[in-house]
Amino acid sequence: MNADDSKSTPTLRAGMIGLGMIFDDTYRPFFERVHAEGLYDRRFGIVDVPLVAVASRTGARAERYRESAGCRIGPFVSCIGVQPVHELLKAGVDFVCVATPDDRHFAAARAALAAGVHVLIEKPSVLTLSQLDELTQLAQAKGVLAKVVYHKLLDPDHKKLRTLVADGILQHVNNGYCSLLEPRSISGSQFAEWITGRNPGTYVAVHYIKLIDFTFGGRLKTITATGQRGIVGPADGPTWDSCQMRMVYEYDSPPFEKPGTGITPPARQAAFDIHTSWVNPDNFPGYVEQEVQFRFDNGVWNGHSRKRGVECTVEGLTPTKLKTTLNNHYSAAFLEPWGERSQRGYGIETLERFVREVGFVERGGPATERTGRLQAMQQLTYNELAADRQTVAAVQSLEAILDRQYRARPDCVVRVNDERGGLVLYDPHGDKPEVLYESPV
Ligand SMILES: NC(=O)c1ccc[n+]([C@@H]2O[C@H](COP(=O)([O-])OP(=O)(O)OC[C@H]3O[C@@H](n4cnc5c(N)ncnc54)[C@H](O)[C@@H]3O)[C@@H](O)[C@H]2O)c1
Repeated sequence: MNADDSKSTPTLRAGMIGLGMIFDDTYRPFFERVHAEGLYDRRFGIVDVPLVAVASRTGARAERYRESAGCRIGPFVSCIGVQPVHELLKAGVDFVCVATPDDRHFAAARAALAAGVHVLIEKPSVLTLSQLDELTQLAQAKGVLAKVVYHKLLDPDHKKLRTLVADGILQHVNNGYCSLLEPRSISGSQFAEWITGRNPGTYVAVHYIKLIDFTFGGRLKTITATGQRGIVGPADGPTWDSCQMRMVYEYDSPPFEKPGTGITPPARQAAFDIHTSWVNPDNFPGYVEQEVQFRFDNGVWNGHSRKRGVECTVEGLTPTKLKTTLNNHYSAAFLEPWGERSQRGYGIETLERFVREVGFVERGGPATERTGRLQAMQQLTYNELAADRQTVAAVQSLEAILDRQYRARPDCVVRVNDERGGLVLYDPHGDKPEVLYESPV
């Protein structure tokens, strides 16, 4: 650990791997705020959280950022190349944040954990359960935190949904749908460097997979999926324009079902459909449009980003430079009533919470009690990597089903924890069932 007690203000040194869109949206404002203010928590006092090193492919964005940020950030080392993470780790960091493209999270996170550094990974954490196993075992062996960012869990609307479910006001989810639509510029230019072979489901449906998994609990049973191609890449290629997946969960039946009969009611199932696309016209009204509907035994929950409250039109600016339906809760720049400029929202709050968790482990009491503090932070299932199993299982299944469709074997189904294994892919074209992951999910 580099946490340095000899200085008057204790320090948690940060490293950032990947400096793309999400860095700019959430990590940059977080690091700039703690650069200005430090981080205070009653459990460990004030700590400095300097961003000391960054890693990216070319370093171009790092240099642009260094120049544009000026004194809003301290000095940092910029590491570049195909494997810049080892260079970054040499700078001496207490934690790293991994925000590379989703199929490059694993290698970066593994290198950091192996060096005994706490890790925060952008969603989706990793793409297979065996990768997840390796990272969680490494974190356990090294005694550090391995966490993942699903910032939609901190969206006040989703927190309210979960609160109503937890308090039994919304009872037993029956089924639901979610959709997230992004403009073509996302797939066509923003992500052009890494988009080949990728799909919008892994990239964004995963927000809703996690929301469903975390909010309603239950056991994931079945995954099906399909998708469309031809706009981002060739119609018979491996790159997907849009995709639709269905997950079926199983829940223990509520005890009120068959009162006094002595009959154990069968488990109940709920289906969730998640539709995603990154090829919508750049000027479509939502720009990024998100919608969910969940139906319960006794209620319906509807959430729609365009109905959240604000719609704003500015000639020449909306919807491309300025969004028409602004999400002022995620990460928005404000002029505060007291004159200060700020950027705040749940996208930033989730990063701050992780750093508080690291601070608590490293600074929240005597070194002899560190293990207890580490274990307490590992119990926080909203961001714990070890608690991401069903979400990763759904992502791995989606990727496998789309890959088979690309190889002219559409309509495969993945079943979870059946008699053949943890994740088993069934092919209607007659091939033998394929075990994607052997151990129970
Ligand atoms: N939470 C959210 O809502 C949200 C939104 C956008 C992106 N993300 C996630 O963040 C991650 C990054 O997405 P983005 O939109 O910022 O992508 P991006 O393409 O804008 O940026 C990717 C960055 O990673 C760097 N990079 C690529 N390969 C690397 C490697 N091997 N080592 C080090 N750096 C490397 C690139 O240089 C670039 O700086 C993805 O996992 C994505 O799913 C999350």
